[in-house]
Amino acid sequence: MTQDELKQAVADAALAFIKPKLESDTVLGIGTGSTANLFIDALAPIKGLIKATVASSEASAERLRAHGIPVYDLNLVDQVDFYIDGADEANRALQLIKGGGAALTREKIVAAVAKTFICIADDSKLVHTLGGFPLPVEVIPMARSHVARELVKLGGDPVYREGVLTDNGNIILDVHNFSIPQPFATEEKINGITGVVTNGLFAHRPADVLLLGTASGVETLYA
Ligand code: A5P
Repeated sequence: MTQDELKQAVADAALAFIKPKLESDTVLGIGTGSTANLFIDALAPIKGLIKATVASSEASAERLRAHGIPVYDLNLVDQVDFYIDGADEANRALQLIKGGGAALTREKIVAAVAKTFICIADDSKLVHTLGGFPLPVEVIPMARSHVARELVKLGGDPVYREGVLTDNGNIILDVHNFSIPQPFATEEKINGITGVVTNGLFAHRPADVLLLGTASGVETLYA
């Protein structure tokens, strides 16, 4: 199977996972990226079964609206029942690296609110130790050089993501050559740097369920 076919398989599996649990007041959190896009498209035919969605990016909100799926402001909903999103890397504790699409901060916010976070990914994303994928860090623009120097002190090799502004008006530093054997501590340390909005490590709020697309079918992993 191609990577695209595996992504489609996990998007369909996520829909099958939540469908029996949907109610007329269900609010879904929707992630960002190519896998999340496939989930949005799969959701469209059954949009009448849910109340609304909240989106982790302007791009996803636009795609949802194009399907006629209601998108609410997160501040106006009482709960988010399920959050469905992709990842750039996952380990077997379901800790993740996210933010390849620069949506990490809003993704973290929606994940923090969600009762159940369902991560959908093809099996190329499953790793033993996080950090093969450069860790995205969202940074207030005027703090770029300061934060970069602090990331070098932590042992990483930060690279400014040229031409990218997040939906929040900030910049992204991608930390290369940065193995992450202790995700909790690293998430905290980087978030403690003045000028950092957040980083793409999801250690304190891992996924609850990982639907992993493999050549022999979709595997379901729990945290
Ligand atoms: C967006 O900022 C990311 O966190 C995505 O969830 C992640 O990059 C996965 O994207 P794909 O589904 O396109 O691989």
